[in-house]
Amino acid sequence: MKPLVIVTRKLPASVELRMKELFNVRLNGDDKVFTKEDLIAAVKEAHVLVTTVTDEISGGVLSKAAPDLKMIANYGVGVDHIDLMSARDKRIIITNTPGVLTEDTADMAMLLILGITRRMSEGEKMLRAGKWKIWSPIGMLGMRLRDKNLGIIGMGRIGQALALRAKTFGLNIHYYNRQQINEDLEKSLCATYWASLDQMITQMNIISLNCSSTPDTHHIMSRRRIGLMQKNAYLINTTRGDVVDEDALIEALEEKTIAGAGLDVYKNEPNINPRLLNLDNVLLTPHMGSATDEARIAMGEKVIINVKTFLDGHSPGDRVLA
Ligand code: DGY
Repeated sequence: MKPLVIVTRKLPASVELRMKELFNVRLNGDDKVFTKEDLIAAVKEAHVLVTTVTDEISGGVLSKAAPDLKMIANYGVGVDHIDLMSARDKRIIITNTPGVLTEDTADMAMLLILGITRRMSEGEKMLRAGKWKIWSPIGMLGMRLRDKNLGIIGMGRIGQALALRAKTFGLNIHYYNRQQINEDLEKSLCATYWASLDQMITQMNIISLNCSSTPDTHHIMSRRRIGLMQKNAYLINTTRGDVVDEDALIEALEEKTIAGAGLDVYKNEPNINPRLLNLDNVLLTPHMGSATDEARIAMGEKVIINVKTFLDGHSPGDRVLA
């Protein structure tokens, strides 16, 4: 019997086709999201489980895993929905799909920066509602990007790809990261490193969150730090909802102590806080940073390579915990 690979969500057709050729795979034809009970049933049966961000692989779920479950191959780069420590205790290998969605997610961050500072969503809503009466010298004014300060929190692959884009729009690049990046890279990105996140925040016109979600980055934009932002500053989030204190952000947006926010990710996806929906000074998209045909196929190919490598008896390249 070939090892059983269970895939929790519907994947791009070419990816599923290749999986069928290579593996003894159970696909999710109707894309019904797995409940906790479905996940428990899957970890009892599968040798390899292919998950996505919509699967909560908690310690409770993993405690029910049969000894045969050897690998969780996540379709996506973020693995905050998987209890990594429980997986390690059970010697379950976790892999993800880094590198192949970098450009797409950086594009999304740039799109949110442009869109929120130029009030794109607000303008489109007004136009569609038939409320645009006439061009006005003082109507729909936004913020020019050139010479403004962009502070990137998390200067990994996506942060760097965003810096490259933002530089060409004339933004001054600043960043905060666990470690300062090497000098040559810093120079090529024209990026200024800040050892103090608090100090950086006070000087920025735009702050973009590009760090991964870990216990260390939970609420890295806390209520106190949101309070440090300038009144004319914008917050952009394309990573995970939990890196921002969403309630504090909503209050700041309601009270206009900051200028606006461009958000692709939220605390309780897909349930968006209704207070966010009532605001004009936000641009909201439904977690679509990696949503291009190219990225989603490449993510699938990474999953296939990771699973195949593992089933062939080798260590997959994208192991999250070595
Ligand atoms: C990622 O790759 O982490 C995306 O957010 C989808 O999970």
